[in-house]
Amino acid sequence: MKNIAILASGSGSNAENIIRYFKDHQSIRVDSVWSNKSDAFVLERAERLDIEAYMFGKNEMTATDWLLDEFRKRRIDLIVLAGFLLLLPLKFVREFQVVNIHPALLPSYGGKGMYGSRVHEAVIANKEVESGITIHLVDEVYDHGKVLFQAKCGIDLRETAGSLAAKIHLLEMLHFPKTIESLLV
Ligand code: GRF
Repeated sequence: MKNIAILASGSGSNAENIIRYFKDHQSIRVDSVWSNKSDAFVLERAERLDIEAYMFGKNEMTATDWLLDEFRKRRIDLIVLAGFLLLLPLKFVREFQVVNIHPALLPSYGGKGMYGSRVHEAVIANKEVESGITIHLVDEVYDHGKVLFQAKCGIDLRETAGSLAAKIHLLEMLHFPKTIESLLV
């Protein structure tokens, strides 16, 4: 069995979708979910789906090796960032394969502070005709690293950040689990 650890800071709709996708999988399982926010809804979602869920402080990821050791003990094969808002320290990237999803077509509209509706607002303000999702391996730079998969959607004349977010959400639900699977089988 290959083990996935999911890191998330927010609602966790991607985390839930990934957990459901791998629920009865032959060779891949979601081992656990980890959040740096105690009130992140992702923790509740994971518990409801019977997946171990933990909150950690930033220091346990950066100053100490607590989180790193947890991943070692659990024999994690892949760390999935699903709406995780902190920069993952280099020590994780050196030891584990890490994948992230970004709600735009990188290298555009990425980098520190580019998350959530800010991304969609910037895309619309610049009168782009398309946006989409990027699934990429993670290195030490925000939203950098080898691109594994991109999918596009058009932007309508009356598009709002909310309506664009909904289109992107559909692409995320469809493609993130499959791309993760292709990394592990
Ligand atoms: C997604 O849009 C993802 O692309 C980005 O953060 C968002 C997380 O949403 N990295 P959710 O918490 O999975 O609902």
